[in-house]
Amino acid sequence: MTTAYDAFPYRSRAYMESHIDRLYLVAHLFGLEPVPVDRCRVLEIGCADGGNLVPMAERLPNSEFVGVDLAARQVEDGQRWIEPLGLTNVELVARNFRRIPQKYGQFDYIVCHGVYSWVPERDRTGLLEVIKQRLTPNGVAYISYNTFPGWNTRRTVRQFLQQHTEGIDDPEELVERARVLLRFLHDASSAETSYGRLVRAQCEALVGTPPQYLFHGLLAEHNDPCYLREFVKAAGEQGLQYLGDAEFGTMMPDGLHAEGRRAMESVPGGLVEHEQVQDFLVNRSFRRTLLVHDGFEIERSIPWERVETLWISARARLLEGDIDGLEEARFDAPDHVFVTDNPILKAGLAVLDAMWPRNCSFQEWVSATVERSGRMGPEVRSTLGRNTLPLFTRGVLRLHPRDLGLVDHVSEKPLSTPWIRRRAELFKWVTDLRHGMRDVPPVPRFLLPYCDGKHTKRDLWKLLEKEHRLGRLTLNNGVDHGLEVALDGLLIRSLLVG
Ligand SMILES: C[S@@+](CC[C@H](N)C(=O)[O-])C[C@H]1O[C@@H](n2cnc3c(N)ncnc32)[C@H](O)[C@@H]1O
Repeated sequence: MTTAYDAFPYRSRAYMESHIDRLYLVAHLFGLEPVPVDRCRVLEIGCADGGNLVPMAERLPNSEFVGVDLAARQVEDGQRWIEPLGLTNVELVARNFRRIPQKYGQFDYIVCHGVYSWVPERDRTGLLEVIKQRLTPNGVAYISYNTFPGWNTRRTVRQFLQQHTEGIDDPEELVERARVLLRFLHDASSAETSYGRLVRAQCEALVGTPPQYLFHGLLAEHNDPCYLREFVKAAGEQGLQYLGDAEFGTMMPDGLHAEGRRAMESVPGGLVEHEQVQDFLVNRSFRRTLLVHDGFEIERSIPWERVETLWISARARLLEGDIDGLEEARFDAPDHVFVTDNPILKAGLAVLDAMWPRNCSFQEWVSATVERSGRMGPEVRSTLGRNTLPLFTRGVLRLHPRDLGLVDHVSEKPLSTPWIRRRAELFKWVTDLRHGMRDVPPVPRFLLPYCDGKHTKRDLWKLLEKEHRLGRLTLNNGVDHGLEVALDGLLIRSLLVG
C-alpha cells in the first residue's frame, strides 16, 4: 500500500524528550524501577526514516532498537543510513503497527512521536492497545499528540486552509498554496481585535514551518487534538496509567506568573486535574505523555535523595556577581537568568559550567563543589541534592541516567560519532549527543566529517586553509582563529566524544 508518506516523505529528526534517557528519568524520579537504558529493548512506532531511533541506537550498543512504519519508502531511506554505520542493534520494519510480528516480543520502552493525532480513531485506540500488549511489566511508553485548548485557534486556521485548497492533490502545490493563504489570513486579520491577534499569531508561527509539517501535520486528512483528561481516560481504558510529562518542568506550576501559581494552590484533584487546568492557563497545544501499566503506585512526592544516582550537567555562565563572595550571582541559564546568593549553589553551578558539555555523577559534583566552596561534604551533598530537581524543572540543570560520554576539551584528534559525521555532510541541522537538534554553522560543519579520531588538529588546519584559500569558506580572522572557534563550537554544541 502506498501512503501519503511514500509520496511525500517525512524527514524524521531527534526529539530530546522522547529519548529513553528521559523516559527512564521520569519513571525513576516517580519511584518506579525502569529497565536500565544501556541494556533494554526499544520500539518506535511511526519511526519514518529513523532520525529519532538510529542516533539512540548508536550510543547504546548493548540495547536493541526496532522501528516500525507503514511507509516502505521512508523505511528504505532509513536503512540506507543504518547500513554504512554498521549498526547491528537497530532494525527498521515496514509494517502497520497493528501487525508487528510476534517474534519481536515486548519492549522496555515504546516511543511514538507525531502519530496519535494523525491517524483515524480506530488506530488511536489500536495504538494504545499495541502499547499495552508490547510493553514489558516495568516498561515506559511515550506518546505525543495535539491538545486542546491550544489547537482551538489552530484548527480554525486549518479549516480555512482546507476550504481553500480543496482539489489540490500535489503536495508541493498544496504547501505553496497554504503559505499564500497563511499570509493572506495574517494580513487580512485585524491586529486591533483579540481574535485577530490570535489568528495572526498562529499564521506567523505556521508560515515558516517546514513543508512536511504543513502537509502532514497541519493539513493531513486526520488531525484530531484532544484534552489531556480525554487522553488519560483512553489510556486508562486500555490498562495504562499516566506517569507524567516528558517535559518534566511543565508538570509544575513554576512556568505560570505569580498570580497563576497562587491560584493553582486552590485547584482540587491530583496531577492530571492540575495539569489540565494549567493547559487552559497556557493554551497548551502539544503534549508528550508518558504511560506505564496500571497498578503501580506512583510516588508524586519525590525524595531528593533520588537524584543521587543521576548524572548532571549545566551550561550556566556567570553574568554578574562573584562565585566566592557573599553577594548574589546571576547565571545565564537557558531561557532565563538564574539568581542565587547561596555559596554552595554558586560553586556547584560554576563547577558544572567549567566542565560543560561533560556530565558528571552526582558524587563527582559534590566532591568538586566541596573543593570549590571549601564547605563540608554533608552540607554540600544536601544543598545540591535538595536543589537539583527545582533547578532541573527550571531548565538550569540537565539530568541523565548515564554518562553521555561527552568531553570537556577538544582532543588532539577530535572525535564525533559516525551518525553525526554523516548527517553533517548532508544537513545543516544535526543531532547532538543530548538528542537535541543543532544548527551547525558552515565552518564547524565542514570540519565535522573529518572529526573521526584519525585527523589531527594540524590535518584539520590544512583542510580548512585550503577551503579558505579557494574562497569556499570565509574566515575573517584567519585560519588559526577559525579552527579554534569552530572546534570550540563543536565541543560546546555537545557534538564531540573525544
Ligand atoms: C507525522 S509522521 C511522524 C514521523 C516521526 N515519528 C517524527 O515525528 O518525526 C507519522 C508517521 O507515522 C507513520 N504511520 C501512520 N500510520 C501508521 C501505522 N498504522 N503503522 C505504522 N506507521 C504509521 C507514517 O508513515 C509516518 O511516518
